[in-house]
Amino acid sequence: MLAVGVESPTNIALIKYWGKHPKYEHLLIPTKSSISFTIAGLHAKTLLKVESGKREITFHLNGKKIKETQSEFDYVRDFFDKISGTYKFANDYRYEISSENDFPTASGFASSAAGFSALALAFAKAMAKLDRLPELNERQLSVLARLGSGSAARSVPSRGGLVIWHRGFDNAGSEAEVSDLSYAETLYEPSYFDGLSVIYAKVESEREKKTKSRAGMRESVRSVYDYWQWVDYEEKTLLPAMLNAVREKDWVQMFKLTKQASNNFHAVCWRTDPPIIYLNDKSTEIISTIQPLAYAAYTFDAGPNAVVFALRRQAEDVEESLKAIVGKENTYRTEVGGGPKDAEL
Ligand code: DP6
Repeated sequence: MLAVGVESPTNIALIKYWGKHPKYEHLLIPTKSSISFTIAGLHAKTLLKVESGKREITFHLNGKKIKETQSEFDYVRDFFDKISGTYKFANDYRYEISSENDFPTASGFASSAAGFSALALAFAKAMAKLDRLPELNERQLSVLARLGSGSAARSVPSRGGLVIWHRGFDNAGSEAEVSDLSYAETLYEPSYFDGLSVIYAKVESEREKKTKSRAGMRESVRSVYDYWQWVDYEEKTLLPAMLNAVREKDWVQMFKLTKQASNNFHAVCWRTDPPIIYLNDKSTEIISTIQPLAYAAYTFDAGPNAVVFALRRQAEDVEESLKAIVGKENTYRTEVGGGPKDAEL
């Protein structure tokens, strides 16, 4: 039996991934590119044990065994089904996966990103040790993680920081080419964002999200009448504007565009049929509080919890105003962080 361990960070998108290209849904190719910050101090640590034999998977998440009938198990099974398309030998092993998050699962934070990035990296590492795979480069590793969960691709680059996940189908050729082109890479290392703080504001804890991202985004692509207009706007206008703001270290502009991107994403969710409403009263209170501040931005994923970016010199004030809304014990201040690492077993 071979055992490997990987610790992978989570990430939070400034420009969101929300929808898979209908032609390449099975490959988790996104309709548009997205960019995210890698987050310091919020990780998934995954231990993978591998043994020869007919494929079998056991999966523990935060110390609890996940049953084969649970949706978390479906995602993991689906990941192995997908990778065995490329790497047939993936079916020749028994896998024991145990993953621990140091943050609440299913709370709206992208825990599947950290988890699948760690699992994909552990798989590649184990298979390299068994001489079934060469050492994959970062680009190939992000493609592998993408097959587990799209946003996981953005947790793979070893330098972390600001990461872009290219949608990859613009110069579409074969399916294999499209898949290779839809990868993530670091654009700026964490030190570039020295003056920034990241504050998590937990509005609701430990509760399952109502609509999982995977199902929700499928419904949005299907039913939002101007979905592709939104995609086009974000890909061709918002993303270049955001990258320009970052290049110039124009944080005020970056914050403004981040708020806009979060609002537009939730507007798309609202306009899905039936509507997907991830934000609650506390979330909207956070929006009203942070929206007028030039030196801060909020962003929300598929849940009510906020992630707030702020200039470090104002971060304490911002955190105080968040505490007034969500309670003292429900904020967590951190910063932009680095990429995944090998973990102790
Ligand atoms: C709202 O990566 O969880 O967090 O690829 O189906 O596993 P699947 O979806 P997932 O979706 C993340 C959606 C989001 C936005 C983002 O992180 O970009």
